Amino acid sequence: MAFRVVVLVSGSGTLLQSLIDAQATAGFGARIVAVGSDRSGIEGLERADRAAIPTFSHPLAKGADRAQWDRQLTDLVAGYQPDLVVLAGFMKLVGSAFLERFGGRIINSHPALLPSFPGMHGARDALEYGVRITGSTVFLVDEGVDSGVILDQAAVEVRDDDTADTLHERIKVTERELLVRVVQRLAGHPWRIDGRKVRWDD
Ligand code: GAR
Repeated sequence: MAFRVVVLVSGSGTLLQSLIDAQATAGFGARIVAVGSDRSGIEGLERADRAAIPTFSHPLAKGADRAQWDRQLTDLVAGYQPDLVVLAGFMKLVGSAFLERFGGRIINSHPALLPSFPGMHGARDALEYGVRITGSTVFLVDEGVDSGVILDQAAVEVRDDDTADTLHERIKVTERELLVRVVQRLAGHPWRIDGRKVRWDD
């Protein structure tokens, strides 16, 4: 049986698209069984529709009970019985119910070399700080902000004429490849966490 993946998105969904494209190739070993979002009407959900993947959206209304939103999101995702949950540009922090249910099986992709520049603006913050090398990180989600065990990283050089947008776009090129590689690896190999390190038992 294929390794079942639920992907959560908030925006354009180009990372999602790289996973959709990868699952059409031999040897990927994972299948996206649903795509969810905290926003409706976004390109990410349309990408899933075009690939005939079931979708759901679960917005967090202003002033709403965040813990309840998190429990409902947990139930929605659990309905698809995922082996792995991929946060691919999902701009909400998941809460304790979600972590309790899927902990150790949630990964996120970040446009910077963690632990540097966590948060919502990884590419911009790295550029403003003046680093010469930045990149992307795929990591296991824990209760902190971008603080979980690092699964893999890829480096990107900063150019003198970069803006936050040009840098982020170049990072996303590496980020897409990195995410596909990590999901394929998680789907196909036994792995375990040893302190802050992932051990691939192969
Ligand atoms: C990606 O760069 C991802 O790392 C970032 O949003 C972008 C989504 O792009 N996520 C975060 O910054 C989360 N902290 P996409 O919508 O084109 O896939």
